[in-house]
Amino acid sequence: MPLFNIRKAWAFLGVALLATPFSWGQAPSSRVALCGACHGAQGNSTLPNIPSLAGQPKIFLENQLVLIREGMRDIPQMKGMLDNVPDSELTALAQHYAALPATKPNASRQQALYSRGEALSKDMRCGICHLPNYVGREQMPRLAGQREDYLLLTMRAMKSNQAVGRDPIMSASLHGISDEDLQAIAHFLALTTP
Ligand code: HEC
Ligand code: HEC
Repeated sequence: MPLFNIRKAWAFLGVALLATPFSWGQAPSSRVALCGACHGAQGNSTLPNIPSLAGQPKIFLENQLVLIREGMRDIPQMKGMLDNVPDSELTALAQHYAALPATKPNASRQQALYSRGEALSKDMRCGICHLPNYVGREQMPRLAGQREDYLLLTMRAMKSNQAVGRDPIMSASLHGISDEDLQAIAHFLALTTP
């Protein structure tokens, strides 16, 4: 086979690998089924206090998966689950969930609470990092459409510096805010559609 064709064959193989991240390596598809038991089959969680992963920025997911594997972000429900999982597979998992669509929220809107949360999020300039439509980018998570209970749980933890292994930038952002305001923000973010 002339060298030219070998190169071509490799190029094709490369494209095939990129297009089907789950057809190679250590069967990540079986792990996706495990994740789905909590985070939802398509990455949209239906369980209380468990975040949706669909539509999150790939870098955010990748970072969190490394932190969880290393035990730096302590999640009792995921304990041991990522032990010895190679970086390449964490990247594949991140890619998988980043590419899935976040479903539209189906909870009903409480207009006064929603408007208050919207105004607070704007005043507190959350969109500077999370983007004005709150879909996130790079290491900054998507907030739009995330579960309301999880948003509230995690913001309470971050505010009181109890969120072990999380970026302290958020404790600073939420410093001094009242719990009522957190509830309004969580309601707004969960029900907002980009
Ligand atoms: C037994 C339930 C359970 C299983 C199974 C599970 N998780 Fe989780 N996961 C959680 C909970 C609960 C949290 C949120 C913890 C917290 O911070 O309050 C979480 C958080 C995360 C986060 C951080 C999301 C964010 O918005 O901050 C990522 C990423 C994640 N899980 C990925 C995975 C992947 C990938 C798998 C499969 C390998 C998986 N999880 C399996 C329960 C689970
Ligand atoms: C300076 C940038 C910045 C600003 C401003 C900011 N955030 Fe964040 N936020 C981040 C980063 C980075 C993370 C990821 C934290 C981590 O890696 O643990 C995050 C995480 C979060 C999370 C956790 C989501 C998840 O899926 O786990 C919530 C909720 C959140 N921010 C809400 C807000 C709200 C509400 C505001 C405005 C009051 C705000 N943020 C302002 C950078 C910012």
